Amino acid sequence: MSPMNRRAVLLGGLAAAGAVTLPSWAHARTTAAAPPIRDPFRLGVASGDPLPDSVVLWTRLAPAPLNPDGLGGMPDATYDVDWEVATDEAFTSVVQRGTTATNRALGHSVHVEPAGLAPGREYFYRFRAGGHVSPVGRTRTAPAAGAAVAALKYCLASCQQWEDGWFHAHRGMVADDPDLVVFLGDYIYEKPSGLPAADKVRRLAFDEETTTLAHYRARYGQYHTDPYLQASHAATPWVVILDDHEVDNNWNGSDSPANSARKAAAFQAFYENMPLRSTARPSGASMRLYRDFLWGGLARFHMLDTRQYRSAQATGSACGPYLDTGRTITGAAQERWLLKNFEQHPATWDFLGQQVFFAQRDDDGDRSTCHAPDSWNGYAASRDRVTKGWIDRRVPNPVVLTGDVHRHYAADLRLDYWDHGDPIVGSELVVTSATSNNPGAPPDSTWYARNPHVKYSQNKRGYVRVTTTPREVRADFRVISDVWEADPAKVSINTDASYVIEEGVRGLRRA
Ligand SMILES: [Fe+2]
Repeated sequence: MSPMNRRAVLLGGLAAAGAVTLPSWAHARTTAAAPPIRDPFRLGVASGDPLPDSVVLWTRLAPAPLNPDGLGGMPDATYDVDWEVATDEAFTSVVQRGTTATNRALGHSVHVEPAGLAPGREYFYRFRAGGHVSPVGRTRTAPAAGAAVAALKYCLASCQQWEDGWFHAHRGMVADDPDLVVFLGDYIYEKPSGLPAADKVRRLAFDEETTTLAHYRARYGQYHTDPYLQASHAATPWVVILDDHEVDNNWNGSDSPANSARKAAAFQAFYENMPLRSTARPSGASMRLYRDFLWGGLARFHMLDTRQYRSAQATGSACGPYLDTGRTITGAAQERWLLKNFEQHPATWDFLGQQVFFAQRDDDGDRSTCHAPDSWNGYAASRDRVTKGWIDRRVPNPVVLTGDVHRHYAADLRLDYWDHGDPIVGSELVVTSATSNNPGAPPDSTWYARNPHVKYSQNKRGYVRVTTTPREVRADFRVISDVWEADPAKVSINTDASYVIEEGVRGLRRA
């Protein structure tokens, strides 16, 4: 079957699969003691964190996803959930199956981590609970460590406020058929959109700020009902990190008791709703999200958590706190982990997936003022230590992957941004928002003259498609013609600009 046909079958299958009872699972059973439930698979299925022998398989039982109690319409009972992994979409060749239990303490979420899968191959999976069969998901394992890999295609996405637009970005990513989706934060927004009511394309089920576990759960429940988002999860494994809006706008590592109760609720709901490994399961207001992945000998991904351990944001524009070497955006332990990892070079490309703008941005040409305290600008000493880490440990081909700012950017990285001749160390690809609004004025020619390391910016909604080969990384900055138009036939998704980084050559080149 051609890739195009296979995709069509898969997407058609996803739409219909909930209604289909597949042959080998014809005799669906229920847990003896658990009350009957309506179709609990309304949030779809997902997979994530691919390793060479394993990938996380996720679903969450929720026959009534919008219930404000966050319980998704599930009775207070333990349910057995059967799962299967096959090498074909028809499940004629099942390679693993099992049963796992879930209950209210887990928000009736399911995280299965099958082991012993083959490296670098495609799999299909599905679940069964209460006599219902889930849609079919497609996933893949990472290639074996060190394996020669001809190409890795992944998509970057971030910032998808529900009311601000339709999720065409996910439709576009599914059509691009990537090996991986890397989601860089702001999967949900805790606050209702600031857009005027007339500009919102749809409404939240409860139009208030989430602060409780019930409301965080229900907010994720609503997001997961989006058909394009479901298709995106079902088509490709995701690697996810969170940013601020999964908890609260611009939160940081400092703690009050109220803060910490809210964080615990937000982390729990995030874990329940994402295809994360059990190593990420939160313990109160703490969760281990930073981790690394290898894609054979081609690519390594370090996924950072720049929220949980950061010093409080600087305020004002006096540079003292911005430059203070005692302040940190990563925390000491994560920084040690990262710099230690930099000593080994198992792959051609070294990607640093993280939340906020890494390169320096200077808004006024005045060295005595500092800006953007929520980004790495506000933690310049942390940025210096990471940049020196790449240089001193001779990390090959570092590329930072960023979300947060609701605008595409491509930038080169250097140690001293004020010296426009300072050698280029690496590059940064910043993905715009999938939907979230950006009211800010775009950079003008004066701004670019002050920031010559920034090569490109585009104030439209979209995602970035990154094709990685042993010879180059190519970033296609994809833009959506109109996120306020629901009809996909009236919405185009195009490449606005492409940039290439050649292996062994530092810096971006417009393609
Ligand atoms: Fe955002």
